[in-house]
Amino acid sequence: MPGRCLVVGSVNTDILLMVPRFAEPGETLLATGMSVIGGGKGANQAVAAARLGAPVLFIAAIGNDPFSEQRYSELEREGIDLRFLARVAGQGGLAFIECNAEGENRIIVAAGANGALEGEGVQRAMRELELCSKDVVLTQLEIPLPAVEAALSIARETGARCVLNATPWADDAADLLRLCDVLVVNALEARQAAGVDREEPIERVATRLVEHVPLVVVTLGGEGALLVTKSERLRCRAPHVPVVDTTAAGDAFTAALAVSLLEGESWEGTIARAVWAGALTVQRPGAQPSLPFRSELEQTIAAFPLVTKRW
Ligand code: RIB
Repeated sequence: MPGRCLVVGSVNTDILLMVPRFAEPGETLLATGMSVIGGGKGANQAVAAARLGAPVLFIAAIGNDPFSEQRYSELEREGIDLRFLARVAGQGGLAFIECNAEGENRIIVAAGANGALEGEGVQRAMRELELCSKDVVLTQLEIPLPAVEAALSIARETGARCVLNATPWADDAADLLRLCDVLVVNALEARQAAGVDREEPIERVATRLVEHVPLVVVTLGGEGALLVTKSERLRCRAPHVPVVDTTAAGDAFTAALAVSLLEGESWEGTIARAVWAGALTVQRPGAQPSLPFRSELEQTIAAFPLVTKRW
């Protein structure tokens, strides 16, 4: 059996508002467009991994409201195994996203049902799955920390590789770093995780984090990404692309990285594939509608290969 990608994470409904610029405090602005679509870092990464061809299982919690029903149907259509998706009474997760003319976003998340995902339930589900060293477990910090800790601990016991996309960063999560094999963070989160200020050069921050996690990947937006292990330091520059909306670019990046781990890709191939997955996503509005499929990603990489350099 090929390796599986198990995602343990959040499901949100995204209320996306396109705005000419971000509002000042006390100001009312008119949006230039709006949509209500599937989001949540967990769900986005599950969808992205499935579109890139991995067999995906998803442990999450949704509500019993109409939005949650829509999210369930969409995830099912993506071919994701939802046998461990819990339904709880009440509203599912909601995210309010403003996206400005430069494609930058501001996001506020109301956890809703995501807050009901318990460590014990995650443990039970993961034991039933009988994970092994071929599998990859992927989680983020948009669900309660005991659920993340359970996911990483059980993965570790079974030999499955654990990827933590430590976003949104929470200081209580620092203890979890010892449980993961791969840490994916943006530059801000990298500094928060390392406990250093914004003056610290990002290369030095990444090198510090490698003392706690064997593989550290730092996303740098339009600058590309760094990949660091104890013996390897790579930088991949991002391609120049028109940016419409950066929402879920980090999710596409992380999922592509997880799929590369499953497939035994080289570090150079892994980082280039992840950077291109993010770069395709930023060219389209919204979270899940913007995530690329494998064929598109492969054709793009073949047509426009990215250069990775050692540093
Ligand atoms: O990473 C993007 C996601 O963050 C959005 O889909 C939103 O739901 C928030 O979770």
